[in-house]
Amino acid sequence: MEVDRRAFIASLGGVAAVNLMDHEAKAEALEHYMEDKLDEMVAGQQPEKFPTVAEIEAQIETRPYRRGAGDVFTGRGKNVKILEKMPDKPTLQDFFRLRFAPANHVLQSATRAMKTGMSEEIILACLLHDCVLSLIKPDHGWWGAQLFEPYIPEKSAFAIRYHQTLRFYADDDAGYEYPDQYFRIFGHDYQPPQYIADTYKMLKNHKWYMEPRLVTVNDLYAFDPNAKVSLDPFQDILGRHFKQPKEGLGYDNSPSAHMWRTLARPDNPL
Ligand SMILES: [Fe+2]
Ligand SMILES: [Fe+2]
Repeated sequence: MEVDRRAFIASLGGVAAVNLMDHEAKAEALEHYMEDKLDEMVAGQQPEKFPTVAEIEAQIETRPYRRGAGDVFTGRGKNVKILEKMPDKPTLQDFFRLRFAPANHVLQSATRAMKTGMSEEIILACLLHDCVLSLIKPDHGWWGAQLFEPYIPEKSAFAIRYHQTLRFYADDDAGYEYPDQYFRIFGHDYQPPQYIADTYKMLKNHKWYMEPRLVTVNDLYAFDPNAKVSLDPFQDILGRHFKQPKEGLGYDNSPSAHMWRTLARPDNPL
């Protein structure tokens, strides 16, 4: 074990204090110091202790916001910032820049799907699968699918809707494990509600099962804080598969236009 001399001397009360100690006292102090450090190192290697559902529930009243509020609606404990106004006829790219940013997770996820040669519908689904978390978190698969449905291929919308369900179920053949992150955020003793279990049952026999499954496969590897990603590699796929309305997102009277307007103006009182 390496000994940090400065930290060791400081732990004894500084150089003056050390100078007053005899040789034997110093040797003994060093031994104690190293034992403590060793204990700390072992403690650091312990497996992470995940909370229970009850412990997570106990956190609810410790927060000034609800956990399900979309990212544009909360400063997560700090004051929110003024958001830059959206252009009059906003495009998906504008929303990525001004409302979904930094969007690292979805960009990494789509980058992985592209590198591993997945279909354009899957790459698109990966790129969009969690964008709706800026608006709302619970049931984000269903909300996200509705947000994008008027503008993207049916398979991509299916993949977005159901990736939420398949995240709760491992699939060894596809290379998807239940994520540690879910032990952390739902509790290690969490059981998905009945409607999720029923949806999973439906999906297992569905001809498009692999569409949402492949989104979950790319979800796992998409949390690298050092990866450099951008929307540029996906412009061609967006051009081919995202039907950008000429009036701008929010103003084309589509079934999800109001969701885009809410994202554009989250500070409106009504
Ligand atoms: Fe998700
Ligand atoms: Fe995700």
